[in-house]
Amino acid sequence: MNKPQSFRIEDLTEPLTFPVEAYICPDYARAERDRLWPKVWQHAGRVEEIPNVGDYLTYEIGRESIIVIRTARDRIKAYYNVCSHRARQLIDTPPGTNGVHGNKQGFVCGFHAWRYNIDGECTYKHDEADWKGCLSNPARTRLTEVKVDTWGGWLFVNMDPEAKPLREYLDEAADILDPFELEKMRYKWRQWVIFDCNWKTAIEAFMEPYHVTGTHSQMLANGDYYAYSAAHGIHGVSGFDVRKTAGASSEKEASSVTRTGKAGKDPRVSTYELQKEIYETVNNASTTLTLVNAAKRLVDELPEGTPAPEVIKHWLKRAREDDAARGVIWPTITPEQQGKAGLAWSVFPNMSILQGITFALCYRARPYGDDPNKCIFEAYAIERFPPGEEPKTEWVYAEATQEKWGLVLSQDFSNMAAVQRGMHSRGFRGTLPNPHQERKVTNFHRVLADVMGAGYLHLLDK
Ligand code: FES
Ligand SMILES: [Fe+2]
Repeated sequence: MNKPQSFRIEDLTEPLTFPVEAYICPDYARAERDRLWPKVWQHAGRVEEIPNVGDYLTYEIGRESIIVIRTARDRIKAYYNVCSHRARQLIDTPPGTNGVHGNKQGFVCGFHAWRYNIDGECTYKHDEADWKGCLSNPARTRLTEVKVDTWGGWLFVNMDPEAKPLREYLDEAADILDPFELEKMRYKWRQWVIFDCNWKTAIEAFMEPYHVTGTHSQMLANGDYYAYSAAHGIHGVSGFDVRKTAGASSEKEASSVTRTGKAGKDPRVSTYELQKEIYETVNNASTTLTLVNAAKRLVDELPEGTPAPEVIKHWLKRAREDDAARGVIWPTITPEQQGKAGLAWSVFPNMSILQGITFALCYRARPYGDDPNKCIFEAYAIERFPPGEEPKTEWVYAEATQEKWGLVLSQDFSNMAAVQRGMHSRGFRGTLPNPHQERKVTNFHRVLADVMGAGYLHLLDK
């Protein structure tokens, strides 16, 4: 383990490196189980998954299983999924499932039939008198609670009873994303898969557009992908940028997903080409059909020579009207807010949100037991739907193919195991993240090293 050295956010502008132990070391993976996951807020699901009293889902993290259940119209609770008697899981989570869900008005343990109400109190212990009164204190037998809160339509849990409130934890990430009203979006699709790589290898593949040139070269025909990457406390954001204006342009509206396509082209055409490509190759996500269709009409609705900012303004105005006509009301987001929010956020430790005004494409990666070389990876799209037209979705296990995930995500997936193999190579000296475009990655490891007490950043010398 390296000598502890805390880095500040300001230091991340410098070229840095960090070792590979966080990706490959079995001891490190085991240590995460004690030092990382029990200490952080992590998203366990979406509020829409448990609309009725008694609706529950289980969230699996490493060896833990947590039940999140709606106990009243306006109240959600979370418990460790374990019976107080002799530790049987109250709800079975069979291998091959990505958590389970259902509705229960109480829990009955399958081993010796102890019962619990949804508020976690043990309401029946078989032959209780045998304990000679020692089980009369409800605290001895009640289910152990886990902190739970919501933001942006997500259910977050935290196993640390001393954890700071969720809002404080999310900090600027929540402040800056609040105008997008992510809580009003609903699942469009959700898929999961097991990768032969560490969970960090997987989530970091979505922290930066720096890989577009190498991984998604076909996208260069319709867009420019130079990006900035910045830290906001323990979280991070990236957005599109213009070369040689590092820093200065990091809060332009054009840094977001609603931008024109390839520079130098007629923006009426390039905007549509980019939108169409994204919709078709990013699994019908990262934009919406409304935005694609409104972009398609730009050549008919605007004269040739219309400047790019005017094209974007017109496009978004028409898309807003089109959506309003079908009952999808957009929030008001100023260009400044849009610029500040950039393209995509990393919420420490394992959540990624690529947001638009009416949609978001999100990722989550989790360890697969204690194995540093495997992870559970999920991607899902959320969108604003007309009331009553929200699709019914479930987690679908989908092999990492183009057929199941679309071209772009399957290209991302093709790197996972290959990066993990490379991390094990004796010939690898440690990562060399891009100081401007991959700062989210270095900020993640800055924070992670402080939490884990290992894997510290080091300045690169010339
Ligand atoms: S382990 Fe649950 S009742 Fe015995
Ligand atoms: Fe990608």
